Amino acid sequence: MTPADRKRLKISELPEDFYARIKDRLQERIARELRFAGRVLDVGCGSCELARFLAKKNRQHVIGVDISDGGFANNRLRGETVECHKADAKELDFLQEGSVHAVVSLYALHEMHKPVAVLKEANRVLRGGGEVLVVDFPRGSLAERLWNEHYYTAQELEDMLKAAGFAAIRASLIESGQLLWVTASSPEAEARPPAGSPQSKQSRLSKLKRKVAGLEEQIKGVREHIQRLRTAAQGKQRAVVDRFRCTGCGICQELCPEGAIRLTYVASVDAERCTGCGVCVQSCPQGAVRLSGRERAPSKSVR
Ligand SMILES: C[S@@+](CC[C@H](N)C(=O)[O-])C[C@H]1O[C@@H](n2cnc3c(N)ncnc32)[C@H](O)[C@@H]1O
Ligand code: SF4
Ligand code: SF4
Repeated sequence: MTPADRKRLKISELPEDFYARIKDRLQERIARELRFAGRVLDVGCGSCELARFLAKKNRQHVIGVDISDGGFANNRLRGETVECHKADAKELDFLQEGSVHAVVSLYALHEMHKPVAVLKEANRVLRGGGEVLVVDFPRGSLAERLWNEHYYTAQELEDMLKAAGFAAIRASLIESGQLLWVTASSPEAEARPPAGSPQSKQSRLSKLKRKVAGLEEQIKGVREHIQRLRTAAQGKQRAVVDRFRCTGCGICQELCPEGAIRLTYVASVDAERCTGCGVCVQSCPQGAVRLSGRERAPSKSVR
């Protein structure tokens, strides 16, 4: 939660088009959260706008599901991988167990009649360790005043995710307290045998193997993501570090595939080496790096 988010504004201080104003920023934030997933399921996708955004931004394969297909028209743009299905989210028979890497639901869970059943189904189709992200209006928010609907509290959402079998549940209020942002992960499906038993050792070993396999897949996802960013950027841009924001944590240096970042208290970018892949921009926890057009950049090392 940013300091701005923590400062919960009075509803009367917010403009009526508050949610429209934060739309772009929210889509970016969701894309960032789910960027390492290859296949994403969007539950209650409406007109598939978020699905299209994710497909375009992250080059992901996105499966949108909505009980109504009224907004599906033109859901496939050239070069995008979006498929929208008309289906009740609590019965996704066309998706196999563990077949998606992440699930997102934006502004939709509060509309679903059996939210726990929907979340259970999301858990079924999510691979072990995969993330679910629920973004919805919280009780007592501006949305309630605008549309007079029933929304959940953070605690209620957490309880539902728990009842649906999710682990590592984290809920927070974002955007001046007007949105609930809840993440959780699908646990490895396995009952635990008694500690010390041969089955326990066996099970720990197979669990470790699965974890390694999962990590390998995640690394593969990161590599593919880097490759996609590289291809997209094709050297048209380069990274620029805001030295006043940079804390010198070194994450960008660690992740830069070109070895283009140097650390001397703060990070600096070797413009000759930088391909503009954007990995440092995505990975910087301070938001201290941005991409800038090459034509405006000096040709030597710059900061
Ligand atoms: C407020 S809209 C949000 C749509 C979209 N996520 C967005 O952000 O624009 C909620 C959507 O949930 C869908 N919905 C409600 N119950 C559903 C269910 N059981 N299964 C799938 N979709 C459902 C509705 O048809 C509607 O399109
Ligand atoms: S990741 Fe961000 S804060 Fe850390 S060294 Fe790089 S630019 Fe600085
Ligand atoms: S954009 Fe960042 S990560 Fe990519 S090559 Fe340039 S400095 Fe390295």
